[in-house]
Amino acid sequence: MSNVRGEFSSRFGFIMAAAGSAVGLGNIWGFPTQTASNGGAAFVLAYLVLAFCLAYPALMAELVIGRHGQANAVSSLQKLTTSPWQKKFAFFVGFGGIICAGLILSFYAIVAGWMFSATIEPITAITSMDNATLWLSEQSLTRDIIFTGLFIVLTVLIISKGVENGIEKWSKRLMPALLGILFALIAYVMTQEGAVTGLKAYLVPDFSSILNPELLVNALGQAFFSLSLGTSVMIIYGSYISKRENLVSLGAFVTLIDVFIAFVAGLLIIPAMYVAQAQGVEIFAADGSLLSEDTLVFQVLPALFDSMGDIGLFVGFAFFALMSIAALTSSISMLEAPVSYAVEKFALGRVQATWIIGALVSLVSLTILLNFAALFGFVVSITTKFGQPLLGMLCCVFVGWLWHRGKLLKEISEGCEQVEHTVFWKIWPWYIRFVCPVAIAAVFLNSL
Ligand code: PHE
Repeated sequence: MSNVRGEFSSRFGFIMAAAGSAVGLGNIWGFPTQTASNGGAAFVLAYLVLAFCLAYPALMAELVIGRHGQANAVSSLQKLTTSPWQKKFAFFVGFGGIICAGLILSFYAIVAGWMFSATIEPITAITSMDNATLWLSEQSLTRDIIFTGLFIVLTVLIISKGVENGIEKWSKRLMPALLGILFALIAYVMTQEGAVTGLKAYLVPDFSSILNPELLVNALGQAFFSLSLGTSVMIIYGSYISKRENLVSLGAFVTLIDVFIAFVAGLLIIPAMYVAQAQGVEIFAADGSLLSEDTLVFQVLPALFDSMGDIGLFVGFAFFALMSIAALTSSISMLEAPVSYAVEKFALGRVQATWIIGALVSLVSLTILLNFAALFGFVVSITTKFGQPLLGMLCCVFVGWLWHRGKLLKEISEGCEQVEHTVFWKIWPWYIRFVCPVAIAAVFLNSL
């Protein structure tokens, strides 16, 4: 580590960490289910276009704010401002993002807890621990509290180790493991009956539905959630990138990996759904719509694993381990957002700050668990439908309208000297100024 503040030690380390944040339940679960309920391949095509044309420019805005500021999200944004009202605005956007990240973590940890217990279940089943298997398979408050807590403690342990020894080290281990498991599962599912029908539904688009406004809105929302935008996470990760690195290509790498993994996860989940259907599991209603969008992962897929016989236990274990790993590399980025702020603002030790914030997030998770019906959907909506698009849009406004163009160019040029003559610089500043805010506002208004 080159200075007192943490910094990613290598290009590969940053890419794994940022891609680890981006790749999560949103890719492996959210993207395939959205694809299945929004008409298959047409959604995939819209998603690809929007991810590269709108989400990537917005990601670049957040990364460049962070790398320029070399500080937590609030201070980084405030460094771009000159007047007192702008400083307040910067606080609103930066702190809003931090709160948003903390709230996302509080529900994400609950879902990740389900993934954890589903990972352990095949192990207790193989070892004939029948009581434990029954306890793990039935939803109960005690089970959820224990596994949510476990997930938060694991996240805290990684974050308390800092940037290089915590985030970077674990992302470099977990991300390749995730890819390995994903490909092994795809190879298996492809040998099963029904997989080819699923593949066709996934890859052959029905062009007539591609301009459907709801499909476009869903695709853009999915792209924003998937790239962790509007949560100040990418501002923080940007602040740990060295000035020697080429930000434009780093951002492009992260977007490519995120989109690639979402696409590959679709290659697994969509054919798996058709395989399950071929084995008699009900997936689609008579009108072709998906039967149980939210519960699919816990009902349909385990039914598929069961029907495979003994090997199903291994496949089930691998699948849920994959989900847990993806969730963990995302949750560490969510926790880093408030922790970096607390460390720099209140001069707390990292370990102390991490445990305090971990405890606060656990309290929110507990409150959600105790009032599940009223709070879970509510917290998901306010963060992902309102918070993320709104704050993501405001970051674009910051870079597009408040930052002096010459200074912005100077920051982007560090590590990328010729940037002035590239297509990126000819298009991106305009995108950030006009196209991104308008398009994101459209998504935001639609979600109202
Ligand atoms: N991008 C993550 C996913 O796809 C979720 C996430 C959202 C992570 C916001 C960090 C901040 O699951």
